[in-house]
Amino acid sequence: MNQLGLGIAITGSGSATLDVTLDNHQLSQIVETSDEWITSRTGIRERHLVGEGGNLSAIAAMAAREAIAMAGVAPEDLDLIILATSTPDDLFGTACQIQTLLGAPQAVAFDMTAACSGFVFGLVTAAQFIRTGVYQTVLLIGADVLSRWVDWSDRSTCVLFGDGAGAVVMQANESDRLLGFELRSDGTLNHCLQLAHKAQPKEIVKGVSVGQGNFQPITMNGKEIYRFAVQKVPEVIEKALFRANLSVEEIDWLLLHQANQRILDAVAQRLNIPAQKVLSNLAKHGNTSAASIPLALDEAVRQGKVKSGDIIASCGFGAGLTWGAAIFQWGR
Ligand code: ACO
Repeated sequence: MNQLGLGIAITGSGSATLDVTLDNHQLSQIVETSDEWITSRTGIRERHLVGEGGNLSAIAAMAAREAIAMAGVAPEDLDLIILATSTPDDLFGTACQIQTLLGAPQAVAFDMTAACSGFVFGLVTAAQFIRTGVYQTVLLIGADVLSRWVDWSDRSTCVLFGDGAGAVVMQANESDRLLGFELRSDGTLNHCLQLAHKAQPKEIVKGVSVGQGNFQPITMNGKEIYRFAVQKVPEVIEKALFRANLSVEEIDWLLLHQANQRILDAVAQRLNIPAQKVLSNLAKHGNTSAASIPLALDEAVRQGKVKSGDIIASCGFGAGLTWGAAIFQWGR
């Protein structure tokens, strides 16, 4: 609790159900790969896709409605909507479209981009607004439609990603359930994971040229990202635990960005966290970027695994590069 006596609680979660499924066997029809290779290297068996005609705002709104219902608030109660995404429907921002879909006219809405760290960065950002007494009820959505930007002929990346949306409602609370956090960035490693704009010169009048073009498919140095994740994720979790004045043994659940089962296993091993405390839904969803943490959280809550009062160590990591950990207690 801070000096103003204002804390935060995460009071609801939700996720979107996507109808289109793509399994490893189907992928092996389009690139030279196999279910055995993908499963043993990543833990992923299938992923869900938005499909043609679908869009980010629709799946984000689906997840948001579930979170709002679980929290027992009305859309009109929302003061703030933060959409963590790297794949907006509109580069000017998609959060306002979600505001309209939900019918939340009082809420101010904006997008936030921090790739696979977006949800954790959003959680900490939302908490600052609540802790300062500015807003009481915040909807935080993590959603991505990476299928739009995957090179479906590149076997080193296309097997990893899926689409998804997850959301939480955060509310002002007498006790502060965000127990500690630590956020980090390192732009010197930006080239390791990109969805970059490539400009083509276009002369608009004689002597005046601008760069136009489009975003290029995802590129990734898998080995560098693996090394980065396995080194930096335990460090940042330990830092956040230190701020929370908690030991690793006091964590009920380890909730990492669902990038790869081997990363989850290596981080858990380095932190000495037993496998039964590690939340994983990679087999079903693959890497859904900003959606992966709230998606896994919502599934665990609805399965009755995560219970009110449980301490969760969450950590996002990815492009930027960005990484960050937030230690929180589920529920009021
Ligand atoms: N199917 C079959 N073979 C493949 C595939 C595939 N889908 N992809 C690569 N290979 C081949 C390679 O071509 C290579 O063959 P070669 O030895 O003949 O050159 C061989 O498999 C080994 O390739 P590596 O890249 O060395 O495979 P590695 O064991 O490192 O596994 C992986 C690759 C799974 C991508 C791993 O590096 C990894 O997990 N990296 C982290 C990536 C990640 O999680 N990214 C997302 C996190 S950030 C975010 O969420 C945005």
